[in-house]
Amino acid sequence: MCGIVGYLGNKEAYPILIKGLHRLEYRGYDSAGVALVNNNNELKVYKAKGKVSDLENFTKDKDISGTIGIAHTRWATHGEPNDVNAHPHYSQSNSLALIHNGIIENYAIIKEDLIKRGFKFQSDTDTEVLVQLIEYIKNKNNIKLSDAVQLALTQAVGAYAIAVIEKGNPDQIVAARKSSPLVIGIGDDEFFLASDATPIIEYTNRVIYLDDEEVAVIKRGKEVKIKTISNVVKTHEIKELELSLNELEKGGFPHFMLKEIYEQPKRIAEAMRGRINVEGNTVSLAGIIDNKERFLEAKRILIVACGTSWHAGLIGEYLIEELARIPVEVEYASEFRYRNPVINKGDIVIAISQSGETADTLAAIELARKNGAFVYGICNVVGSSIPRNTDSGSYTHVGPEIGVASTKAFTAQVTVLSLIAMTIAKLKNTIEPCHFECLVKELSLIPEKMKKTLELNEKIYEFARIFTYAKNFIYLGRGYNYPVALEGALKLKEISYIHAEGYPAAEMKHGPIALIDAEMPVVVIAPNKGMYEKTISNIQEVKARKGKVISIITEGDETVKKLSDYSIEIPETEECFVPLLASIPLQLLAYHIAVVKGCNVDQPRNLAKSVTVE
Ligand code: G6P
Repeated sequence: MCGIVGYLGNKEAYPILIKGLHRLEYRGYDSAGVALVNNNNELKVYKAKGKVSDLENFTKDKDISGTIGIAHTRWATHGEPNDVNAHPHYSQSNSLALIHNGIIENYAIIKEDLIKRGFKFQSDTDTEVLVQLIEYIKNKNNIKLSDAVQLALTQAVGAYAIAVIEKGNPDQIVAARKSSPLVIGIGDDEFFLASDATPIIEYTNRVIYLDDEEVAVIKRGKEVKIKTISNVVKTHEIKELELSLNELEKGGFPHFMLKEIYEQPKRIAEAMRGRINVEGNTVSLAGIIDNKERFLEAKRILIVACGTSWHAGLIGEYLIEELARIPVEVEYASEFRYRNPVINKGDIVIAISQSGETADTLAAIELARKNGAFVYGICNVVGSSIPRNTDSGSYTHVGPEIGVASTKAFTAQVTVLSLIAMTIAKLKNTIEPCHFECLVKELSLIPEKMKKTLELNEKIYEFARIFTYAKNFIYLGRGYNYPVALEGALKLKEISYIHAEGYPAAEMKHGPIALIDAEMPVVVIAPNKGMYEKTISNIQEVKARKGKVISIITEGDETVKKLSDYSIEIPETEECFVPLLASIPLQLLAYHIAVVKGCNVDQPRNLAKSVTVE
């Protein structure tokens, strides 16, 4: 949801900013722009609709000199994506330039007031009011830029990560954040600024994460100074990033999404490392053990999340209820935060998020904590806002996920939820010892079985070519595989723009069956576990209406294979771990259909990886 980047140092800023924008392009790619204080101390702003490469073309013959600059890649909220609405925005006198990620909710009131004072606005964005307001306050009070930013932000309602530079001042960037992420990189005589660490890691691994309502003054040759908008001086520990540059490259794959699908065996093994011990027959998550009493006493667990993470949450519900016998409710964070939910002291809220920055999930956490719940986070991005705002939690440790459609983060979330369910089950004695032992062994084998599942890639590609004609798809699954059906359908619609619906297989007869004809591909997740026979009946219902059945089956299952038009055989595993394997062919099916259709799988239209606005 918009990526921002900044540089102040001894090198030319422009190439660093452009490279940074490319790294952040997964956050938004409607338009992009850059502002530089050039070698003549002039403030230059260049912006273009489209991708970062369009901005590069636009600036080919422009003056891009300067060792200080800020840049932005946009995912439009207020105002259509065009050159004018792209960031950075100039202030009225063109002496300030500002970039922003977030939404200023009270922009209309501020704008009206500034218009009355003679300000003229160029764009339809909420952002432009900030830069105008800062200039107004700065000139009216005759104060420094940093003080004006501080004062202006006391008037702003909403979310922001901003950076501002000024004409005639090649030595300073003022930055601030609230509810949108911002990281400052500290190099040798140089500073970086970005929405996440990916544009920074190439230059330094030393970073400061700003907290909400903090304003940072970054000055050439000086230490970063941080104050809150209410003028309280803050000191921050410099953190060391554990991220390698290789993780940010495609590594020979045509797309990040395919790379990330293929990384799953390795990444899932990493997510389990130190947490599962087959010889000792133990599973232990520090976050759960450290808060053992709370989990033992919990009357209920609420899971809040959005998108793919919400699907992982549904699998978590099945796992925790089945193994640990604690009632679980799963909610969209966006609904939870606004519907006045009943939250009791002693409730545990598990918040799941790949990015750790999703605005609705953050707000749901805030509400839960305010009402006395204990909040446990499952996040991927280390140091992001959600882990910093939860009582405890577990990282998924799958490295940066750059493809907008989530793949490895999803299977890692399900893995961590499996570990959580097993750890609590053991603590509560709600699981038979032999069942526990069997699950420990089986979970440890999942990475190898994922490798085997990935060998199906060629076959899935062939199936994908057959189905590019489809306008609609139905995905069906029961039990643990119902959320897998939802996730499979989401993957397909996100990247191929084919309409797809996921349904609990038995619900099909209450509506979706009306859609089935010879044109309709129906993906059925039908492993030989759980409600196998019942799922076979559902397949028969589809066949009777001439639907085209693509089944995900257990290796060697001739019965469903014969009934299906196409089938994909995955290795056998415990029922509760089938989602970890069955998701992979669905990711590959969506991927190949999208590629064959010529879609941009890593940056699908209208989507962003990190949704920092509600
Ligand atoms: C966006 C992304 C999805 C993601 C969802 C929740 O919609 O495109 O891939 O599942 O946000 O994001 P989170 O980072 O909280 O998991």
